[in-house]
Amino acid sequence: MIELKTPGEVDAIAAAGDVVGAVLTAVAELAAPGVTPDELDMHAAEQIAAHGAKATFLHYHPQFAPTPYPAVTCISVNDAVVHGIPTGVPLADGDLLSVDLAVHLDGWCADAAFSMIVGAPRSPRDQVLIDTTEAALAAGIAAAVPGARMGDVGHAIETVARRARFGMLRDHGGHGVGRAMHEAPQVPNEGKRRKGLLLQPGLVIAIEPMLQAGGRDTYRHDADGWTLRTKDGSRAAHAEHTIAVTEDGPRILTAGRPR
Ligand code: MF3
Ligand code: CO
Repeated sequence: MIELKTPGEVDAIAAAGDVVGAVLTAVAELAAPGVTPDELDMHAAEQIAAHGAKATFLHYHPQFAPTPYPAVTCISVNDAVVHGIPTGVPLADGDLLSVDLAVHLDGWCADAAFSMIVGAPRSPRDQVLIDTTEAALAAGIAAAVPGARMGDVGHAIETVARRARFGMLRDHGGHGVGRAMHEAPQVPNEGKRRKGLLLQPGLVIAIEPMLQAGGRDTYRHDADGWTLRTKDGSRAAHAEHTIAVTEDGPRILTAGRPR
């Protein structure tokens, strides 16, 4: 069942989104060659507590995973696409870092992710991949207006990825957000125009394209059962915002995250 949110509830999710934005910004400022993802995760945990919020990912145990999630952030480096568990391996110049974070504040959740290059870039194509992922997200958000359908959102996302000739994970996508991180409806990163769920004011969703430099939709899980990696070893980027469909158009509720 899809629960539309009142304007007051959307504001409450935006308050959680402000914390997500601030914490991800703090993580991006700390990310540098020599720093480990574990250190970034610890920093995020401290910042979340300082904001009076709760880390949503920690101990989260969805059906697709063999074990409860052991960290506060997902940190996916280079060929890791999403759901990377933070490690003690120091970041190096040119690493493509993706950081995903959700928090609960006063019982409401917000979820966002961004990608960045650590230190000196290795290849200009990495920034193109990140920029294209952000452009795909922006196109999906722009399509999320009252009267449009979910297929319009997915179609907008996949069109950007396809034009740039980047691969995209197709069986992972976004989701409704509210009191829980994962609510109905699903938000696929592909779709047909004018098809699917009718979008109405009060719908709050996370939109999250995941693009890869190599071929389409080829990935595998690490032995940890969580980390999703491209099979061809090509790099991947992730961009996610929690947004509300409003009468005035889409409202980004995690706008404070790094870009
Ligand atoms: N942000 C991810 C998503 O949107 C959730 C990561 S899974 C977790 O699906 F277990 F780490 F929470
Ligand atoms: Co999400």
